[in-house]
Amino acid sequence: MRVFMAIPLVSLAYVQLSMSQSLTLDVREATISSLHASLFSGATTCRDIVSSFIARIERFNPDINAIIALNPDALAIADSLDMRFSRGNVTGALFCIPILLKDNFDATPMPSTGGCLALRSSKPTQDAPTVAALRYAGAVILGKANLHELALEGLSVSSLGGQTSNPYDFQRTAGGSSGGTGAAIAASFAVFGTGTDTVNSLRSPASANSLFSFRPTRGLISRAGVIPVSYTQDTVGAIGRCLEDIATALTVMSSVGYDPRDNVTSALPPSTIGTDYTTYLTSLNLTGTRIGVLEGFFNRTVTNETSPVNEAMSSVLTLLRSQGATIINVTDTIYNATAILGTMDTQTHEYREELTSYLSSPYLSGHQPRSMSDLYALANSTSPEYLVIPAQHAYINSALRSSTGDIAYLVKQSLIANLTRTLRSTFLSNRLGAIIYPEQKNLVVPIGSASQSGRNGILAAVTGSPVVTVPIGFSPATASAPIGIPIGMEILGLPFTEGGLLQLAKAIDDRLHARRAPVTNGLEEIVEMSTTSYTYVPTIKPDTGNIPHEYPLGVY
Ligand SMILES: *[C@@H]1O[C@H](CO)[C@@H](O)[C@H](O)[C@H]1NC(C)=O
Ligand SMILES: *[C@@H]1O[C@H](CO)[C@@H](O)[C@H](O)[C@H]1NC(C)=O
Ligand SMILES: *[C@@H]1O[C@H](CO)[C@@H](O)[C@H](O)[C@H]1NC(C)=O
Ligand SMILES: *[C@@H]1O[C@H](CO)[C@@H](O)[C@H](O)[C@H]1NC(C)=O
Ligand SMILES: *[C@@H]1O[C@H](CO)[C@@H](O)[C@H](O)[C@H]1NC(C)=O
Ligand SMILES: *[C@@H]1O[C@H](CO)[C@@H](O)[C@H](O)[C@H]1NC(C)=O
Ligand SMILES: *[C@@H]1O[C@H](CO)[C@@H](O)[C@H](O)[C@H]1NC(C)=O
Ligand SMILES: *[C@@H]1O[C@H](CO)[C@@H](O)[C@H](O)[C@H]1NC(C)=O
Ligand SMILES: *[C@@H]1O[C@H](CO)[C@@H](O)[C@H](O)[C@H]1NC(C)=O
Repeated sequence: MRVFMAIPLVSLAYVQLSMSQSLTLDVREATISSLHASLFSGATTCRDIVSSFIARIERFNPDINAIIALNPDALAIADSLDMRFSRGNVTGALFCIPILLKDNFDATPMPSTGGCLALRSSKPTQDAPTVAALRYAGAVILGKANLHELALEGLSVSSLGGQTSNPYDFQRTAGGSSGGTGAAIAASFAVFGTGTDTVNSLRSPASANSLFSFRPTRGLISRAGVIPVSYTQDTVGAIGRCLEDIATALTVMSSVGYDPRDNVTSALPPSTIGTDYTTYLTSLNLTGTRIGVLEGFFNRTVTNETSPVNEAMSSVLTLLRSQGATIINVTDTIYNATAILGTMDTQTHEYREELTSYLSSPYLSGHQPRSMSDLYALANSTSPEYLVIPAQHAYINSALRSSTGDIAYLVKQSLIANLTRTLRSTFLSNRLGAIIYPEQKNLVVPIGSASQSGRNGILAAVTGSPVVTVPIGFSPATASAPIGIPIGMEILGLPFTEGGLLQLAKAIDDRLHARRAPVTNGLEEIVEMSTTSYTYVPTIKPDTGNIPHEYPLGVY
């Protein structure tokens, strides 16, 4: 009997393991189809698969700090799937596929903390509809991933989870806010993970961790049962290591369809209901494809932080042209991410109403604050109940007094309507299939930076456009980044064109093959499968040791 203390594993679980085997199952870079091949051929069991991923989490999470909680039911679920397999009852596109959830998705029996200590005992009474769909399809939820606290920034540091590190360079952030998911999936802690995106948060972690993600069209997937920020901008999606896996995640998550708990889903075109997005992953002849590039979404200053991004994008443009695609240089000055963020971001007007509606809902039990203002009531004390970094002081203060009744909100909505019309015009007048640009104008920022600067996610966020993010390369290697820092590109389309975006992403990825696994600190090792049983005792002990000291806890 060996006992693993999971304390370096962020904060939550003590995991007790009893060893009876010393088998190995190589789950590095595993995909849905590779795991199904070994499971269905009888080469392995679901328990072995789940145990192997848990072993990787135990071995490497202390370096990366991506996981907030393990699911106490994970091995029991694996056993029940093995039982179903033995009876020939194998259904669901995700049968025995280990996944992680960003810790703002409701999933029983774990709390939904948003990474916030003040929400440590906030327990959902039922799964979010998207989580229920993932489970119904056979997924095994391994646990919850860290995030930037309450998904309000892109540094992936929180009062409950501490700072998540980038597996490609432990001195850099993992992007955010879904940075725990990004770092965990890059390190093969699960097959894919969920995320949410209010401005950049499904795309920045994909870009920073050499991964793929989709941000769905607003209205395609219900956001019910997920800790909200913004009615206008929030979306839910997934981050994975290959396009096939995220297309399957999209198929399953969008199968929720119209959801009366989230009325944006009333925008669903009937033709999208029941779509299998994996069918779009066919080879595409790029000859004649017309693709726009947003010149305003680059930083042309020559520095070590920006040039690698510009060079990676140039290589993609050269490749696309060599394959017969036509590149259209879109130079309209309205496509300026800084300006759009400054004039159209609706978050501060919507946050208080949305968060209060979530916290006061009948789907939560526990002793959590019941409103946004209760949550931030200790705002100016030194309590470690939540973390507000200096860059967010103005945001929280503004959100405490703003509403959707403000004139400023109506002005923003009218600017958004104008931008949305302009974007459609850009597509139609240039006959574009997609628009591309780097997710971030510079490399993902180092730990301790004031904000995740240079990101371009706001265009899709306010217009509700779908995006598929793909890895396109790496910066040069350095002492702390043995294979360099990952760089990612957004592929944006008109509403409900997810299928076409996936097809274009595949055409690019088939030729670039840019995804690489991290090698820092032995992440490339095969880890011995270690568990035959474990019990879970949640313990709340904030690991704040590695939060840069310039971020005072609970003070803003
Ligand atoms: C197969 O398993 C599912 C999930 O446990 C169950 O709902 C269903 O009834 C089973 N089907 C058969 C034929 O046993
Ligand atoms: C949609 O839901 C939001 C809040 O969830 C609410 O403010 C709005 O009035 C609803 N709109 C319609 C048309 O029902
Ligand atoms: C792609 O289409 C073009 C034009 O139709 C054709 O000339 C070319 O051979 C095709 N390429 C491939 C690889 O099939
Ligand atoms: C930029 O990168 C080069 C080569 O990788 C290195 O020699 C130089 O010190 C870097 N400059 C800065 C300011 O970090
Ligand atoms: C787009 O046009 C701008 C300004 O004319 C130019 O600086 C830039 O290099 C062009 N970009 C591409 C991808 O051709
Ligand atoms: C983009 O907008 C910002 C803020 O309004 C402005 O300072 C900047 O000059 C603009 N960039 C360009 C290239 O026009
Ligand atoms: C917290 O203190 C700041 C600076 O003194 C002040 O602007 C802000 O209104 C205070 N916030 C609350 C919720 O009391
Ligand atoms: C609306 O969009 C057009 C471009 O289509 C732009 O020229 C104009 O400045 C925008 N209007 C406002 C008020 O931003
Ligand atoms: C462009 O990069 C430079 C150097 O890293 C930086 O100082 C500047 O703020 C960046 N500009 C934008 C718009 O991101």
